[in-house]
Amino acid sequence: MKPKKSRAIIKQQRRIEGWFEDEAVMLFALIDEIQKSQGITGNLFEIGAHHGRSAVCLAAMAAAEQESLNLCDIFNDQQSNVSGSGSGDLAILEQNLLPFKKYGLRVKIHKQNSMSLNPHDLDGPFRFFHIDGGHNVEEALSDLKLAAQSLLPPGVIVLDDPFQPGWPGVTEALIRFLDENSNYCAVAVGYNKLLLANRKHAPIYADVLRSEGARQLHNIGPPYEIKELPFHGDPLIIFYLSAYLQKHRAIFRLRKYYRSHKWLNFPVFAPVISIIKKLAQMREPN
Ligand SMILES: C[S@@+](CC[C@H](N)C(=O)[O-])C[C@H]1O[C@@H](n2cnc3c(N)ncnc32)[C@H](O)[C@@H]1O
Repeated sequence: MKPKKSRAIIKQQRRIEGWFEDEAVMLFALIDEIQKSQGITGNLFEIGAHHGRSAVCLAAMAAAEQESLNLCDIFNDQQSNVSGSGSGDLAILEQNLLPFKKYGLRVKIHKQNSMSLNPHDLDGPFRFFHIDGGHNVEEALSDLKLAAQSLLPPGVIVLDDPFQPGWPGVTEALIRFLDENSNYCAVAVGYNKLLLANRKHAPIYADVLRSEGARQLHNIGPPYEIKELPFHGDPLIIFYLSAYLQKHRAIFRLRKYYRSHKWLNFPVFAPVISIIKKLAQMREPN
């Protein structure tokens, strides 16, 4: 998905209740562009659609003429939402997906617990599998296994809420999955998403994520910083906010606004921007 389209999706998804950050849209868009540039085609799958906040991003990524969007949520069956993560609403979801369906996108919705999904009954293999459903260890592990069983070899699994103190089950599931599936490795983490890929194909993604030019094009980066550290025996690309910016959310928002509004670089604003930068201890843009 091109950056211009991502910006439109960000505006659209902000009106939808849910848990999907603006930066996650840009990250998904970049992954999508990597796949398109490599000729990787296949359907897309999401567990945990809720009201469609992230699903509209996946819908925008799908090439409607040859790819479909597949979603799963328990919707009204909330007594089986054992981890209490979100609560899907089918009517709102369908409303939010309407514009994409009008453009011919095929959307298949599995109204059931993801633990009862059988990989043979799904419209796979998938090139992009987003896991954001049940957040306890059994649920997340079952979803990871399902994703691995129905993924195209060069496809990606994206896991929500990794390393979150509030959801230890997701982290435990991730580690158990990697222990049991040595052909997979974690490639990158940031914006509350973790990217997993088949070890053989991981460099396709890692190489582009390491490229500053590619990140800049998709507005992935400052005020977030990037580093690489080993995780489960492999290098993990990490997008993170400095402790300073985590503490000073107002300055974080200011920097984010500055980075995403290029017109603020017009010379006419220079004196004002310079004063604000001094006040906010902002660094010069790259
Ligand atoms: C955190 S919300 C998803 C947020 C959504 N992806 C977004 O971007 O806003 C989790 C969703 O997963 C659903 N859910 C919880 N447990 C599930 C399960 N075992 N199988 C399928 N869906 C589940 C909930 O109904 C809820 O809609």
